[in-house]
Amino acid sequence: MMHAHSWWQTGVIYQVYPRSFLDSNRDGIGDLPGIISKLDYLRWLGVDAIWLSPIYPSPMADFGYDISNYTAIHPLFGTLEDLDSLLHQAHQRNLKLILDFVPNHTSDEHPWFQESRSNRSNEKRDWYIWRDPAPDGGPPNNWTSRFGGSAWHFDEQSEQYYLHLFDVKQPDLNWRNLKVRQAMYDILRFWLDRGVDGFRIDVLWMLLKDEQFRDNPMNPDWKPGDPPSARQVGLYTGDLPDMHALAREMRAIVDRYGERVLIGELYLPLTSLIQYYGEQLDEAHLPFNFQLVTMPTWGASTIRQVVDAYEAALPRGAWPNWVLGNHDRPRIATRVGREQARTAQMLLLTLRGTPTCYYGDELGMQNVAIPPALMHDPPGKQDPQHSRDPQRTPMQWDTSPNAGFCPPEVQPWLPVASDYHTYNVAVEQQETHSFLTLVRALLTLRRSSPALSVGSQRSLDQPNPACFVYLRQHGRQRYVVALNFSAHEQVVSLPEQGQGRLLLSTHLDHEGPMALGEMHLRGNEGLLIWLFPFESQMI
Ligand code: GLC
Repeated sequence: MMHAHSWWQTGVIYQVYPRSFLDSNRDGIGDLPGIISKLDYLRWLGVDAIWLSPIYPSPMADFGYDISNYTAIHPLFGTLEDLDSLLHQAHQRNLKLILDFVPNHTSDEHPWFQESRSNRSNEKRDWYIWRDPAPDGGPPNNWTSRFGGSAWHFDEQSEQYYLHLFDVKQPDLNWRNLKVRQAMYDILRFWLDRGVDGFRIDVLWMLLKDEQFRDNPMNPDWKPGDPPSARQVGLYTGDLPDMHALAREMRAIVDRYGERVLIGELYLPLTSLIQYYGEQLDEAHLPFNFQLVTMPTWGASTIRQVVDAYEAALPRGAWPNWVLGNHDRPRIATRVGREQARTAQMLLLTLRGTPTCYYGDELGMQNVAIPPALMHDPPGKQDPQHSRDPQRTPMQWDTSPNAGFCPPEVQPWLPVASDYHTYNVAVEQQETHSFLTLVRALLTLRRSSPALSVGSQRSLDQPNPACFVYLRQHGRQRYVVALNFSAHEQVVSLPEQGQGRLLLSTHLDHEGPMALGEMHLRGNEGLLIWLFPFESQMI
C-alpha cells in the first residue's frame, strides 16, 4: 500500500549547508548554482528531498539564521532566478526542495527591527520584545542567550532592553502580535507559491515567551564544560502551551498547497516533542526527533530503549523520523568513530520513519579542528569548545586542492579536512567498500523495499547486550537488522532456526544465505537480512 504514503514519509531528506556545498563563483563560499550542479549526484546517491539551511539576505552573524529579508536570496548564494532554477531542476529530477524558515528572530538589520528600534512609539515597536530595565537598571529578568550571556541587550537610544535568545544581532520577534504572525505567514505563502515543497522551522518551540517574564530556573545538573545554553531550564522561554495554536496556524497554511511538509526543529523531551504532531495530527508533519543526536551514550541498550520508547509514544497515525547529524552538532563519524558510523548509517536508514542525512556524512566526513583564530560561529567565539564550525567544513568532492569545493587559488571560508584525499565523492564512488558505497546501497535497498520504507518496526529480544536487533515487516516481506555497537566480534542468537539471506553487511564484503540461530557479527558490523517468506514465522 505504498501509494497511501506521502513523499515525505517514504523519502529520505538530505540537509545541504549551502555555504559549504559547492562554490561556483570563486569566492570560497558555496552557492545555489553550485548546488544545482550537484543535483545529479544527489539523485545518484538516492535521496528524495533537499533541505537548504538559510539562503536569504543576512549580515551572517549566525550564518544566515539572522535574516534581513525573508523573500530574497543573499547575493553570496545567487539570485531569486537561481532559486527558481534550483527548484525547477530539482523537480525535474524528482527531488523535493525544503527551505529553512526562521520565525523566532530576524536580523537586527531587518527593516522591521530598524523601525522598531527607532523610537518607542513606532508602529513596529511591538513587533519585537522590548522591556524596561529592572529597578537596578539591569536586564528585565535572568533569561540567557543560547549563545551565552544575558538574553537582553540595552538600547541606549530608546532606553529599553530587547530580547535576543540567540546572538545580540538576532532580536526575537513578538509572536503575540497578530501583525507579526500575518507577516510571517505571508512569507510562507510567498515561497509556497513559488513551488517549494515545505519548510524546516527553526527553533519552533521557542516562539512564545512567558507573558509575565518570570525568571527561568537554573539547571541543577549543569557543570562547567556543558554548553552555556544548558545552564538554565528554559521553562519560560520555550514550549509554552499556546505554541500549539501557532503550529496549527502554520500547518493550515501549508495544507492549502497539497503535499507539502512542515518539519519542526524541537529539542524537547519525548513527551513534549510528540505534542507537536498536534492532537488532530494538525501541527508539524515531522517534529524532528533528535534522540540519536542528543543521547549521552551510544550503545545497543540505550538505542533500543530510545527506539522502543519513541515507537510506543507516537500518537496514532503520526509518522516517525530520525536524525543522525546536523549543522549544530558534532558529526556522527566524530562522535562514534568512522567504523561505528557505518553501523549508525545502517541504523538511520533502516529504522521506521523519515531519515534526515547531513551533507558529507555519507562520506564518513569528520569534524575538522578549526584554530580559534579562524572561527566564525558566534558560540565558538565565546567558547571554542562549543563552536559549530568543525561540522560545517566544505564538502569533499574529489582529490583536487580544496577537495573540489572551490578552485585551488581560492581560500574556502572554512578549512577543508586534511584527509579529503581519502574521503571524497570521486574516490569513494570508485571503491567497492567505501562509506559512500555503503550509504548508497542502504538507500537503494530502502527505496526498493516496502518493509524498509513503510513497514512496521519491532525490536527482537536476544541475549547479547552489545547488539540491537529488530524486524521490519510489510505484508510477507520481512527484514532483520542486526547491529553490533561494540568494536569486538559478537554472536547474536535469535530464538529460531530459520534461514534468511544476508543482503548487506556494513563491511560490504559478504552476502548470501544466513542462519538466524547463530549470527556472527564482526566489530562494528551491521547486517541486513531478508527473511525467506513462510520460514521463521516465530519472529
Ligand atoms: C537553530 C539553528 C542554529 C541557529 C539557531 C538560531 O537551532 O539550527 O544553527 O544558530 O537556530 O537561529
